[in-house]
Amino acid sequence: METSPPDERQGRRSFFSQVAAIVVSLLAGIVPVATAVVVFLNPLRRRVEGSQWIAITPLDALPADGRPYRFPVITDRWDAWNSYPPEAIGSIYLRRTSKTENPVALSSICPHLGCSVDFSTKKDEFICPCHNSMFTVDGARIDPATSPSPRNLDTLDVKIRPEDNQVMVHYLRFKSGTRKKNAE
Ligand code: FES
Repeated sequence: METSPPDERQGRRSFFSQVAAIVVSLLAGIVPVATAVVVFLNPLRRRVEGSQWIAITPLDALPADGRPYRFPVITDRWDAWNSYPPEAIGSIYLRRTSKTENPVALSSICPHLGCSVDFSTKKDEFICPCHNSMFTVDGARIDPATSPSPRNLDTLDVKIRPEDNQVMVHYLRFKSGTRKKNAE
């Protein structure tokens, strides 16, 4: 049974209302601030890799002998506040068959489970050391019916930067284990 005088009860109700109002207004202020902090920090979690045009090599340095040559994919990395020294984020094969044609770029990542394929100059084919998927110099599976790889080696877009004749590759990584080529 309530034994406090009416004024005291009224005072308590008013006090709790004020506390509730303060809590609500604090929460209303915290949410936008927290959202802003998340957005502000987001670049820190986003490594700058893939999905970008990256200079690989001067075109003149790539022999036009039809053989695939492996190159590291090196790029700068930066976040909201810092830039870091260039680092390798993958590797690709470039191949050109004549001096008048643009090179073809193939990802070195095996579409089966993501191992790195090697090119055998003896056999003139790519071989994955993990489960023995084999590909022609064009990246086509040698025996699709038995190949562990569900698709051919992934091609990448290439262009030549006119100002310095650099081979530029639009570097992407693709999901492994799928028949379709889907970017990660
Ligand atoms: S990862 Fe290349 S064959 Fe399995």
